[in-house]
Amino acid sequence: MSQAEDHAGTRRDFLYYATAGTGAVAVGAAVWPLVNQMNPSADVKALSSIRVDVSAVEPGTQLTVKWLGKPVFVRRRTQEEIDEARSVDLADLPDAGAENNNLANGAAATDENRAMIGKEDWLVMVGVCTHLGCVPLGDAGDFGGWFCPCHGSHYDTAGRIRKGPAPRNLLVPVAEFVDETTIKLG
Ligand code: FES
Repeated sequence: MSQAEDHAGTRRDFLYYATAGTGAVAVGAAVWPLVNQMNPSADVKALSSIRVDVSAVEPGTQLTVKWLGKPVFVRRRTQEEIDEARSVDLADLPDAGAENNNLANGAAATDENRAMIGKEDWLVMVGVCTHLGCVPLGDAGDFGGWFCPCHGSHYDTAGRIRKGPAPRNLLVPVAEFVDETTIKLG
């Protein structure tokens, strides 16, 4: 290729890129305000997903964090608590269905389905009684899990309702470990 041709080619490329670039900017400018309006505001976005440092949570204890205005229990269970939850027959559960597990339809309220994936000692639940919304107490009640003193609802070590007026298990929100000691909610 001669130097002249080379130069022409470079110039054509430049014009092509310049035109394409202008087009992209124009489209971007037209689309952005719409997309921007559809996005939640920055403060809502910041709250809808939070990271929780769980490095200090010992087995048999729990952390309560506030998320989207509600308490969320992050419990690190003992092996005994896990064994207890896994020994329960689903037929004994008042709420054996999937709705409150935040799982695909048809998934049962087994402990395996409710605990954190791959880390069965960790259980994350919205700490709001499904009866009338009080905050249940941990390490309490007839089933060794949570107890709501407002009207006497007993939850087991997987947060499933076992006795009392609450109709549903404690809600399991979307949660995942993003590293060894950090759980992301939402
Ligand atoms: S609010 Fe928990 S038992 Fe009524």
